[in-house]
Amino acid sequence: MTEFNLTQTDGLLTTTKQVRKRLDFDRAVPRQLLLDCIEIASRAPMGGNLERNKWLVIDDPDLKAKVGELYLSNAGPYLEERAKESPEGRSQRVFDSAMYLAERMGEVPAMVIPIRLDRLPEGTSVEETAGYYGSVLPGAWSFQLAARSRGLGSCWTTLHLGHEAETAELLGIPDTVTQVALFPVAYYTGDTFRAAPRRSAEDITFFNTWGNTASA
Ligand SMILES: Cc1cc2nc3c(=O)[nH]c(=O)nc-3n(C[C@H](O)[C@H](O)[C@H](O)COP(=O)(O)O)c2cc1C
Repeated sequence: MTEFNLTQTDGLLTTTKQVRKRLDFDRAVPRQLLLDCIEIASRAPMGGNLERNKWLVIDDPDLKAKVGELYLSNAGPYLEERAKESPEGRSQRVFDSAMYLAERMGEVPAMVIPIRLDRLPEGTSVEETAGYYGSVLPGAWSFQLAARSRGLGSCWTTLHLGHEAETAELLGIPDTVTQVALFPVAYYTGDTFRAAPRRSAEDITFFNTWGNTASA
């Protein structure tokens, strides 16, 4: 037995989608709600148990518009290029949705940037890289889960980082730290989400040695 209701927890974990077209651009998101999500996200694991992360919330309309312009100027050409490579099906829907967000990014009620308080040195080993991102990204996903369970949608984005230095200058972020994502956050419209389509666990799992599948 577990103390958790699996219908609820599994539902949250499987239906926390990357939300773009269902973001409600017209409804303000209270700062306290974002702080509640960050409070929960700060419980995520961190290598060495070192608290090396910060969060930057942007809700000033002028700054959001400027970050939105930087995002679009990198995301627009990137997405157009990618859309040409895979012209049909699910990928096309993702690109349409990503372009929709790119065009409206500056209007979202809030942007949230998880930040790690140092820089990954050039030539860092796989071990150090794993520890570095592994100490900041679990919290970012927890933030999305906490947001979703409060009726807020968000989308994991990184394309503003094509203009990392300009964004940092605009927001006064020191060049000694690292922005690892940018979440547009808004209440979502509609009631719920379907589980994200993915390959099955059997399909993506080996046992004991590489290539040994469950059914083998
Ligand atoms: C590391 C990472 C970076 C991403 N960057 C972007 C981005 O810049 N813009 C965007 O619209 N989506 C971005 N995504 C979202 C993916 O496109 C998304 O996971 C995909 O659309 C599948 O969505 P689903 O989980 O709702 O099925 C990113 C996701 C991850 C994990």
